[in-house]
Amino acid sequence: MDAHDYFCKLHIQPSADQINELFQWQSSYNYEQFWFTDEHTGEEVWDGNYLARDIKDIPECVKDLYPVALELAGSCMLLKNTGNVPRHDDMYRQASVTIPLNYTETYTTFWDEEEEHHLKLYHRGAAYLQNNKAVHEVVDSRGEFRHFFQINFFDHSYFYYRDLLKEHGYI
Ligand SMILES: [Fe+2]
Repeated sequence: MDAHDYFCKLHIQPSADQINELFQWQSSYNYEQFWFTDEHTGEEVWDGNYLARDIKDIPECVKDLYPVALELAGSCMLLKNTGNVPRHDDMYRQASVTIPLNYTETYTTFWDEEEEHHLKLYHRGAAYLQNNKAVHEVVDSRGEFRHFFQINFFDHSYFYYRDLLKEHGYI
């Protein structure tokens, strides 16, 4: 597995002060747990992610850090989870820039197409571009919330955004 087919660490990273500022800012939002209807069983599935969607007032520091990503973005959202997200690929998103708003040791596991091999993404406070169409999960449950600000891309594949962000020096 080539890690860059699944996630890429960004060259431009928020400072500790910016992360703290973003963490304070997100606390005023209401989060709702994400759920969907299982196409086979017809049952509601609650996947352990909590979202505040469609954030319009993008903080200045995110605008300063990732202007090109914001230009390409379909939407921005806040996401938090406690490290217990079952294996899935995202229904709508192709890719996302994921900025952690707190430091955790909990990782996201990415699987290859055959789901035989995997790679672990430890954010450890760093922002990444992620391939949301690759199968991924969070199994390391310490019960601590992981908080993220996410810039979402819908129109093209992860590889399209990866190449474009590379051209702009993000990767
Ligand atoms: Fe996901």
